[in-house]
Amino acid sequence: MSDLWEKVRAFEAAREARRAGTYPYFRSFELNDGPEAVLDGRRVLMLGSNNYLGLTTHPKVRAAATEAIGTLGTSMTGSRFVNGTMALHEELEERLAEFYGYEAALVFTTGYQVNLAVCAALLGEGDVALIDRSVHASIYDGIRLALAGGARFVRYRRNSVTSLQRQLDRLQESEAALLIADGVYSAEGEVCDLPALLPPLEARGVRVLVDDAHGLGMLGPGGRGTAHHFGVESRVDLIGGTFSKSLASTGGFLVGRADVLDFVRHHAPSFIFAASGAPSTVAAALAALEVMQEEPWRIERLQENGRYVVEGLRSLGFDLGETSTAIVPVFIRDDARTLHVWQELLEEHGVYTNPFVSPGVQPGRALIRTSYMATHTRDHLDRALDAWTRVGRRHGLI
Ligand SMILES: Cc1ncc(COP(=O)(O)O)c(C=O)c1O
Repeated sequence: MSDLWEKVRAFEAAREARRAGTYPYFRSFELNDGPEAVLDGRRVLMLGSNNYLGLTTHPKVRAAATEAIGTLGTSMTGSRFVNGTMALHEELEERLAEFYGYEAALVFTTGYQVNLAVCAALLGEGDVALIDRSVHASIYDGIRLALAGGARFVRYRRNSVTSLQRQLDRLQESEAALLIADGVYSAEGEVCDLPALLPPLEARGVRVLVDDAHGLGMLGPGGRGTAHHFGVESRVDLIGGTFSKSLASTGGFLVGRADVLDFVRHHAPSFIFAASGAPSTVAAALAALEVMQEEPWRIERLQENGRYVVEGLRSLGFDLGETSTAIVPVFIRDDARTLHVWQELLEEHGVYTNPFVSPGVQPGRALIRTSYMATHTRDHLDRALDAWTRVGRRHGLI
């Protein structure tokens, strides 16, 4: 008989990286209070976080979370469907719908579950999902559920209208389709070219979901994200996202037409059979949404910081791909070299970043992802540029 644990014994990659001292994952922080963090007793410059607006330590956000625990306790201990909904969830849904200018919103326990929910609830026999290769893992998992339900999926080249059109031309008359795209690609910082992609989709009657996990707080008027940035929100059916980045909490959301969301909440196992967001996380997201609107300088500063680093690194000669946001990847392209550069940035320069190597990225696309916050000072950014200059020269990247 085969032993299920055989695959565990054969899994060498992590063991090898640990032996080589280049294992970058599951690092445990003693403190992560914004633009800097404490790791192994040492203060490091944090360029590996999604706390884009720096709100995780904002007094109003902290106070809202604490107060919610005081009044409502630590958990609803049940799903939204039965005993887990509270007025705070509904208040956040109203605020999100209003903020985006959509009819309704649904609040989920994580952003991951949003994509599972949409795919499982809306895609079945005779339906097609259109995605590009680099959509988030939660969309891929959602696609698996859709496949199990009888749907199929096709891939087009990211931001390529020609490639999308080719796939649209191959759809059967009888098939209904949904395009699911990241608004801002989480590793590369590239923005989904909605104005170019929407016309062929509209001509074919394809519905559109933008997963704007990284667009919220980063782009668009008031931080409303990618669709609003391009002024095409009335042509995007659904916007999904997370509270785990700009909104300084955990949880996810979906905005769209009220009847569509009502259908989703009655047909999505990831919504119906998972406990609801805890009072403190929902209250924190609600407060962060308010602070984002009250303190627009945060969005401006985040964008400014992104531009400053992009200009600095590009003028040094680094390969940054297509980013136009505060997510700034440095393409290194070779897995082993990427891990060495990551380690050197951390050990020698006290700069914490995120390495992306295969199979997380396609071969030849290994990169170090850096991301910036509204609360990074010019001094932090110059430290980052200085560290990159040294590391880049040493490794022949510039
Ligand atoms: C594009 C994208 N979608 C969905 C998610 C999942 O969000 P959450 O962390 O709330 O589960 C993330 C976060 O990692 C993401 O980057």
